[in-house]
Amino acid sequence: MRKKLVVGNWKMHGSRAANAALLSGLKEQGPWSAEVAVCVPFPYLAETALALTGQAVLLGAQDCSAFEQGAYTGEVSSAMLADLGCRYVIVGHSERRAYHHESDQLVADKAKAALAHGVTPIVCVGETLAEREAGQTETVVKRQLAAVIHTLTHCIGEIVLAYEPVWAIGTGLTASPEQAQSVHAVLRTQLHAATQKSDAMRILYGGSVKPDNAAQLFAQADIDGGLIGGAALKAADFAVICRAAN
Ligand code: 13P
Repeated sequence: MRKKLVVGNWKMHGSRAANAALLSGLKEQGPWSAEVAVCVPFPYLAETALALTGQAVLLGAQDCSAFEQGAYTGEVSSAMLADLGCRYVIVGHSERRAYHHESDQLVADKAKAALAHGVTPIVCVGETLAEREAGQTETVVKRQLAAVIHTLTHCIGEIVLAYEPVWAIGTGLTASPEQAQSVHAVLRTQLHAATQKSDAMRILYGGSVKPDNAAQLFAQADIDGGLIGGAALKAADFAVICRAAN
């Protein structure tokens, strides 16, 4: 039985004051039986770690460097994330693939760097609307996952995978539970061929998950929780979603 996981991806939102309000709201609403984490912008990691002391909500970041350390201005290493108490780091989010031209191989290298420091990478895969309409959904997500499987080899069982159809992110368009489940099943089959741990691995769905659609999505056989953007910025909405994963 896989424990469900709900992760809030705050993206580039927040301020010290807004974060404090959101985190204290979460404290009032929790705890939940699902595992819950928040992935916050780098400057707020340390303060968020303090605010989460004694709470069941885990800390995560939204990206990490593929490099260990050195002259990489502006980069943040996974060792630094581990040092700050991060349990998770998102890698390969479609916004980074699109705006920062991150390749499948770079994403895989980032996942490897995170694992090397005990930070669990949440590896995002997903197709664009044009790719879906061209019937390429499976080909695209399998290609994205294949790079990670190839790079991590026997450690692939340690990651969390997230299916985030690009056309559903921030658009209010959600994949139907059936659409999402069918891609999740494809991904689990691919993991199954690579590791004996595939049945224990969590595959999250992300893309316009809201309080009113979360329960149906999380009820699907291969959907093990969610990666939540906009709805993670309101404590009451995020709490409903976390509860739906109970
Ligand atoms: P939305 O929930 O705002 O669609 O964002 C999803 C997402 O990109 C989470 O990483």
